[in-house]
Amino acid sequence: MEDKNTFLVTTPIYYPSGKFHIGTAYTTVLADSMRRLNILKGKDTYMLTGTDEHGQKIQQVAQEKGKSPQEYVDEMADIAKKLWEKMDIQYNDFIRTTEDRHIKIVQKIFDKFMESGDIYKGEYEGLYCVPCETFFTETQLVDGKCPDCGREVKPMKEEAYFFNMQKYVDKLLKYYDEHPDFIKPAFRKNEMINNFIKPGLEDLCVSRTIFDWGIKVLKDPKHVVYVWLDALTNYLTALGYMSDDDTLFKKYWPANLQIVGKDIARFHLIYWPIFLMALDLPLPETILVHNWIMMKDGKMSKSKGNVVYPELLIDRYGLDATRYFLLREVPVAQDGVFSPESFVERFNYDLCNDLGNLLNRTVSMVNKYFGGIVPKYNGTPNEVDKDFENYTLEQINKVNNSLKEYEIANTLQEIWNIISRTNKYIDETAPWTLAKEDKKEKLESVMYHLIENLRKIAILVKPFMDDTANKILKQIGITDTSIINWSSLNSYNLIPENTKVIEKGEPLFMRLDAEKEIEYIKDGMKK
Ligand code: MSP
Repeated sequence: MEDKNTFLVTTPIYYPSGKFHIGTAYTTVLADSMRRLNILKGKDTYMLTGTDEHGQKIQQVAQEKGKSPQEYVDEMADIAKKLWEKMDIQYNDFIRTTEDRHIKIVQKIFDKFMESGDIYKGEYEGLYCVPCETFFTETQLVDGKCPDCGREVKPMKEEAYFFNMQKYVDKLLKYYDEHPDFIKPAFRKNEMINNFIKPGLEDLCVSRTIFDWGIKVLKDPKHVVYVWLDALTNYLTALGYMSDDDTLFKKYWPANLQIVGKDIARFHLIYWPIFLMALDLPLPETILVHNWIMMKDGKMSKSKGNVVYPELLIDRYGLDATRYFLLREVPVAQDGVFSPESFVERFNYDLCNDLGNLLNRTVSMVNKYFGGIVPKYNGTPNEVDKDFENYTLEQINKVNNSLKEYEIANTLQEIWNIISRTNKYIDETAPWTLAKEDKKEKLESVMYHLIENLRKIAILVKPFMDDTANKILKQIGITDTSIINWSSLNSYNLIPENTKVIEKGEPLFMRLDAEKEIEYIKDGMKK
């Protein structure tokens, strides 16, 4: 897998439930950033997303709205696609589980499992949560309610097919042990083992007869396939697995990275790998489970009037500021908190002051002292410059290490350390004094180093804020794509001779009036 020059990243496929809030958008922004990062690393990347369109809940909601389920999911899939377009999410494929290409293969897979004996017929009796479409045992309930959403569960009994999970438990545990990169962050592995596997993993009920908005089991059409078996296989069907053309599947599978939120970890860390084992397919390299974006008063919900839609932030503050905030504030292993105050603060401090001013100061100094032409690298940096170079390179190393763990909030923190250090370098070298004292060689070296670091900073932020990166590169006159990639981050002598910075650059971000904007966001949340 290490040598493969391809990178496949997936998001969960979304329930079609209207407008997405910033929390739901987070998974996809993260996936898109990892796609962009791997492009900068020179990999042939592929990103999958889509919508999860079957199940009782969708049938019910459509009915309430006086629509057919198909009409309803068509509208919802469009809403999702429009948002991804607005957020510049450049997925390669958007799969919908109501598409023929998906349905046919799910039926084939179900058949295959019946033939292999992995799926058998039985009767299900249990406590069912309708919104979550999941049966629970008494012991799994929390205060007698659904452990996932906290709503009422009701007793139900039906003829059903079951997947023999028992057969694969030991193999799964062994796989966890032998593949430390499979689950990130690592503590999720113990969570799965202690909460779900050790108490006894029951066979999973994989068909339903109480409603019909789903994929019919070919050999027993009164059954429809359980939504999670249906949904999880999207990662395979989108690539043409078992179809007439499985070129993409052969090229990209196994996925390098599958990103999911903590609420759906169980499905992806237990059932999904077991399905893959039963199909005799390799497992993804990493399944990354991220935590959630919360509000000060808990989960976002319409009834609390605390929902933040991405449009509210993007339309006023731009896409990059929105993406930056989301990625910066949600540590993978802990919940992050959105507040209008912290959004405005990050905007003013991190983006305007630290990054925006650095670019602005540098461009104007290169214009003032060297007529806009970036001086040459002198090859023998003095002590101050060398120290600055070393710090930056060490920090880039740290960035790479946190990216390996997909700790994106840390990654951004480390990139901002470089930005702060670069600002400090200006203060410590005091170019205005060097100019006054006519210390030309020193001044040249400072200007060169500033431009070189801005080039690095642009590349480092590019996966997360593409437009901002491009603006920086444009202002510092870097157009040669051979020095706009990840491997060029380790060198200090790449700025071409006669590079010319822009005469007067537009500020990257305009400082916000904090009080006014906090009110603006608060008002927007109420709408
Ligand atoms: N349809 C299933 C996934 C099937 S995958 C085979 C589903 N869809 S969802 O629309 O409910 O959620 C999509 C993603 O959004 C999940 O990864 C979920 O964890 C994530 N989030 C929902 N609310 C969130 C936050 N407040 N914060 C961060 N992520 C959140 O689950």
